[in-house]
Amino acid sequence: MNYELNHIPVLCEEVIGSLNCKNGGFFVDCTVGGGGHSEVILECNRANRIIALDKDINAVRYAKARLSKYSGRLKVVHAGFEKLMEVLDKGNVNSVDGILFDVGISSLQLGGDGRGFSFRSESGLDMRMDQSSGETAADFVNKADEKSLYAVIKECGEERSALRIARAIVKRREKERIETTGQLVSIIESVKGSKRSRIHPATKTFQALRIHVNNELENLYAGLRQAFSVLRKGGRLAVITFHSLEDRIVKHYFKYLEKNCVCPSGTLMCTCGKESMVKIIGKMITPSEYEIERNPRSRSAKLRVIEKLKGERK
Ligand SMILES: C[S@@+](CC[C@H](N)C(=O)[O-])C[C@H]1O[C@@H](n2cnc3c(N)ncnc32)[C@H](O)[C@@H]1O
Repeated sequence: MNYELNHIPVLCEEVIGSLNCKNGGFFVDCTVGGGGHSEVILECNRANRIIALDKDINAVRYAKARLSKYSGRLKVVHAGFEKLMEVLDKGNVNSVDGILFDVGISSLQLGGDGRGFSFRSESGLDMRMDQSSGETAADFVNKADEKSLYAVIKECGEERSALRIARAIVKRREKERIETTGQLVSIIESVKGSKRSRIHPATKTFQALRIHVNNELENLYAGLRQAFSVLRKGGRLAVITFHSLEDRIVKHYFKYLEKNCVCPSGTLMCTCGKESMVKIIGKMITPSEYEIERNPRSRSAKLRVIEKLKGERK
């Protein structure tokens, strides 16, 4: 698998500009993947240093090897961003100038390396970013009751046919254990038909299972909170998401940080004492038509950026 050919980092110029990378500083890349963003950050100023994280050991190994010429300025760590503070504390880093999240899945993971992320290639149904622990997608689809299957497919996939798909999974597993992407695709197609509309019939169910297995939404929220906490005053946090559930979390958290008061509406006098902690930088950024043409995967990317005004870490 040639990762370079397969994973093109999105919104690079916009990330560099938003994080003020040209000024030089200490950055965290919370999702190093193939190292595309880390590379452009390291390239744009020779004084830049980065701690980069990824939950997937294959990405860590790949990025370390590919970016080895920067090893004096780059440290790549195998860890989830939900453990960001722990990672930085271990590295004796108290605060940083800029933090990037480019959440979701990389083209290497989607590209059929036998991990079960893609409905386009036949493999075992694993779907864990970190294969060293946790429940696989196969464990979940074979064990969960119909109600839990429905809730995950509906909430994390926003799939309209969630109930019928959950029922079909339960029915199929009475006959056989569901172990592969192909089996799951055939179950979904038995409900939704195999006709391809704009998106493949299995897209949303696969997305839902991946989000559930990796606890992606809770981890994103935990990661954002820790990122805000370790930013220096004046530091920037940039987050790229690829679907609405993630973007909603980012948008709401940024708005909460920006607000001056969070007392219930109608309260005459503020009792919460909350002050605005951040400035929201510009509007949400999406890729240009030129970028989408060059890299169709960038189509759904959304970038949001904040600058920290208050709340130095003690
Ligand atoms: C879209 S890719 C990042 C691509 C990267 N920016 C580049 O330029 O190559 C997303 C990466 O985030 C990683 N990831 C997902 N959840 C994570 C988490 N909780 N903590 C750390 N990394 C995570 C995935 O393993 C994947 O490699």
